[in-house]
Amino acid sequence: MKTENTVWHMHQVTKQERSELKNQKSCLLWYTGLSGSGKSTIANAVDDLLFKEKCHTYLLDGDNVRHGLNGDLGFSDEDRIENIRRISQVGKLFVDSGLIVTTAFISPFQSDRDMARDMLEQGEFIEVFIDTPIEICEQRDPKGLYKKARAGEIKDFTGIDSTYDVPTNPEIHVKTADLSIEQCARQIVDHLKAHGYIQPT
Ligand code: ADX
Repeated sequence: MKTENTVWHMHQVTKQERSELKNQKSCLLWYTGLSGSGKSTIANAVDDLLFKEKCHTYLLDGDNVRHGLNGDLGFSDEDRIENIRRISQVGKLFVDSGLIVTTAFISPFQSDRDMARDMLEQGEFIEVFIDTPIEICEQRDPKGLYKKARAGEIKDFTGIDSTYDVPTNPEIHVKTADLSIEQCARQIVDHLKAHGYIQPT
């Protein structure tokens, strides 16, 4: 708990210096989209492209983080809000370390995504909407979860009996239905180049 006896320490090495050393501008690529929309797949493809361009990145992925840091959380609205709150805090620390950070979580509520945005400085938060119609997600159903949700075996499933707020104004809108994974990944990397987060090649 934060008390009057805890103080914030300013670090000698600044975020800007850490970023400059890495020849990039640190930021948080905040992916949002339905389960099965392709967040993790595209995020991994982007990470791979950035790595090849010698960028310094880190990827925080929903399913993985829920095995560790957020292993105590379920899928009630309260737990999802806490999930996103913790991720935002971790993401902010990673941005402070000079990295290009990716978070790949459903993050269904606009208010939570806005909260994450507000924690960062202007230009550091990049909302990436992985826009895949639910019919396609359900068709793919890579983890068999839609089938279970339709059968009533999973409660509070996003898009079925739990809300997903469609992003109103994302920095990057990836319409996956008409694109390959490679094309989706390129769209995101191109945005980073066009806006000066990484060097053009
Ligand atoms: S979030 O809503 O809190 O942002 P998060 O991205 O961490 O969700 O986790 C979503 C992943 O958990 C899904 O891709 C899916 O594999 C799994 N999952 C299990 N139960 C649910 C559920 N009720 N709703 C959505 N995803 C679920």
